[in-house]
Amino acid sequence: MLFFGGDYNPEQWPERVWDEDVALMRQAGVTIATVGVFAWSHLEPSEGRFEFGWLDRVLDKLHEGGIKVALATPTASPPPWFTLAYPSAMPVNADGVRLTHGSRDTYCVSAPAYRTAAMTIALKIASRYAHHPALAMWHVHNEYGTDCRCDLTAAAFRTWLQKKHGDLDALNSAWTTAFWSQRYSDWAQIMPPRATQYLPNPAQVLDFRRFLSDELLAAYIEQRDLLRGHNPDIPVTTNFVQGGWVSVDHARWASEVDIVAVDHYPSSSGIGAEEETAFAGDLARGWGGGSWLLMETAPNLIYTRDRMHAKEPGRLTRHSLGYVARGSAGAMYFQWRQPRGGAEMFHSALVPHAGPDSPVFREAVGLGRTLKNLAPRLASAPPPDSQIAITWDAASWWALQGGGLPASDLDYLGAVRQVHRALFRSSLQADFVFPGVSVSSFGDYRVLVVPHLYLVSDPVAAAVREFVAGGGHLVVGYLSGIALPDGRVRLGGYPGAFREVLGVRVVEWQPVAPGESFVLDDGSHASRWRERVETAGASTIARYADGVLAGSPAVTRRRFGAGVAWYVSTGLSDEGWQRLLGVVAAEAGVEPVVAGLPDSVEAVRRGDLLFLFNHGESVVTVGSTAVPGGGVRVVSGLSASSSTSSAFGCPAPITPPGTPSDKPTAKSASPG
Ligand code: GAL
Repeated sequence: MLFFGGDYNPEQWPERVWDEDVALMRQAGVTIATVGVFAWSHLEPSEGRFEFGWLDRVLDKLHEGGIKVALATPTASPPPWFTLAYPSAMPVNADGVRLTHGSRDTYCVSAPAYRTAAMTIALKIASRYAHHPALAMWHVHNEYGTDCRCDLTAAAFRTWLQKKHGDLDALNSAWTTAFWSQRYSDWAQIMPPRATQYLPNPAQVLDFRRFLSDELLAAYIEQRDLLRGHNPDIPVTTNFVQGGWVSVDHARWASEVDIVAVDHYPSSSGIGAEEETAFAGDLARGWGGGSWLLMETAPNLIYTRDRMHAKEPGRLTRHSLGYVARGSAGAMYFQWRQPRGGAEMFHSALVPHAGPDSPVFREAVGLGRTLKNLAPRLASAPPPDSQIAITWDAASWWALQGGGLPASDLDYLGAVRQVHRALFRSSLQADFVFPGVSVSSFGDYRVLVVPHLYLVSDPVAAAVREFVAGGGHLVVGYLSGIALPDGRVRLGGYPGAFREVLGVRVVEWQPVAPGESFVLDDGSHASRWRERVETAGASTIARYADGVLAGSPAVTRRRFGAGVAWYVSTGLSDEGWQRLLGVVAAEAGVEPVVAGLPDSVEAVRRGDLLFLFNHGESVVTVGSTAVPGGGVRVVSGLSASSSTSSAFGCPAPITPPGTPSDKPTAKSASPG
């Protein structure tokens, strides 16, 4: 069975709507509903007074309808009574302002009162429902990530620091507190980063984010162990959210959940949304070691920077199958029914305000059928497999968000997404690896791409060297290998950790003003960043063509042992990265999933299934398979030309209305 469903909030509706919900879920082929995520104030209306009758009835109705339940602990949103009873458990921001209820996530994870209240409601839920026949999964909390800088947090931070650094001398050294007279002579002097006069100590900020990740994880583990204790057969998870503000290192958390569950909301209305979907799917698969679950996405909207963009017909299906192709155990959404009020009343849902007589619900019905048909074929299909790995490191992201850096717009996420996008556009499938957590995974890859891996430990540097010496192809982008994991710079020239293997020494950075671009002598365009690079064993592949660096190396390549190591000292354009990574992949003998695809077509191989997504409007023929505009085809067998293909979804989403299926073929491509 593939999971298909999403957040279901019956507490927002009168009971008479619940029967219709179950009937519509059955019509759409929904297999699972996530219940209770924000229901704390309905389950415990005042401290110690519990009301479970309504939830009993909801779970029973879902069970009678054959729908499974991911039952949540509602601890992300404490009720108003909690605030008034335990004001010291409310979060305090860096400016010292204590927040109050009125939204969600108003709690301090280090506050004993919060932890006790959370465990109390979790215990009630666990003991009541651990053996309910509808229960398929526990969904702990919602999107851990809440930040607090209060005195309780300060005390917990100090304990964490003592464990990590051992003594104050070690901390003073790791944090370079000799700078600006910050030397600590007593643990009690150490605070979480709070509003201060000028730039904070970057090492303090970095350790605080690591602490917060561990502190939140401890709160999750407490609940997980409680739930497991009531029924060890039910998997436990929590939904991961991504964002620059989130102090959670998901790569570290992944081993603590029974299935990695990810919320993903693309932010671009054009093909960028598909590129983001692919990126999120590949990253989540990496966290999950192959398998994962899309826990939330928006059925019918893409949040762009300043507005909601309704998805075109067929796009819900393509996005959903995109996640599934990249290893998700299903497709789940926020949310089932669009609420009548509340802060997110216009967030889209499978059942919108218009009701089931709507394009989104009709597409959901088709998608439910599609997933049902696909499930048996996926049961034996291993997750997508790749010979190319990209590094991901939450701590490097955090380090590059600070102040006092050479440019204020350094963009870790943007840099990683850019190399993934370049591979995506060449139909080169990529995995992610997590050198900040484990260094053992480079071995089987042919190509390792290292964008903005700012923090690098000595063992990681050694593993990368070994990877190349053993025949791997390494591509390191600027701002990698600069500092030790504690944030102190590696001396002797950048990129310290990788200088030897790359055969280069960078002696000066020249960040470039926003909007300014320049060319290299091979015709590539670049922006953002330039460096003065000295070669020490590497050959120059492209040089800066003008300005003060004219004639000096911009992109280099070095044979090292049995492998090759490339260095990219500048912010190549998308086309530049695509060309470079195409060359590297070809040299490394890595084939695209399907060669020569038009830009609008995405191919993903999962086991012996080939998923073909046509994000454009015209029919495209891949091998012997015609993929209609806006449609998806899943082909069995390793080659599209000698296989059977099936169209998925109801006719409308796969061939959007108004898209004649005999439109001229845009381009033909052959599977690789
Ligand atoms: C998610 C969150 C949901 C809902 C959704 C839409 O990140 O878990 O509760 O808020 O975003 O904004």
